[in-house]
Amino acid sequence: MKHDIEKVYFTEEMIQNRVKELGAQLSADYKGKNPLLVGVLKGSFIFLADLARQMDIHCEIEFITVSSYGAGTETSGKVTMTKALGSVVENRHVIIVEDILDTGLTLEFLRNYLLDLKPASLKICTMLDKPSRRRVPIKADYVGYECVDAFYVGYGLDYAGNYRNLPYIGSLKPEIYS
Ligand code: IMP
Repeated sequence: MKHDIEKVYFTEEMIQNRVKELGAQLSADYKGKNPLLVGVLKGSFIFLADLARQMDIHCEIEFITVSSYGAGTETSGKVTMTKALGSVVENRHVIIVEDILDTGLTLEFLRNYLLDLKPASLKICTMLDKPSRRRVPIKADYVGYECVDAFYVGYGLDYAGNYRNLPYIGSLKPEIYS
């Protein structure tokens, strides 16, 4: 699998250091608030698992499933929800945990969905942020790393379902796409 990687952008050590910092920041910001972390499946499952273990406050964890990509590297532009939330959101401090903020369409959809459920507060935490690709004005409150416009795999991010289990984040060799 690692032979398919053209360039490593974020090493395992960089990721773990940054996740530790984010966990400490969230622990301070949400002390006594018992936040509800909402992971966006499937991409956020590794980030959320690491982040939650770097938080030393009570928090609850939920997952939601949305889909906009299919098997390619470009969003279809149409976001659909395939698994809704099981927890009560009303009056909770909710943090959406996402792998990557790209066009923003997914998070805009999710933000509107969750705001309708009347949380006490709603913030966004994303491991990667690709600001140059934004199609809708949406900003994350907590960002692991800003990144340039490329297609990334690893640390939860996939290409056609693969590479999520790489412990670092990189780009694929062009021949993998052809
Ligand atoms: P957005 O709706 O365009 O912001 O895209 C968000 C979703 O697209 C993410 O949760 C990822 O699943 C997927 N995505 C965006 N960019 C990448 C990438 O570089 N690699 C893998 N998946 C990506």
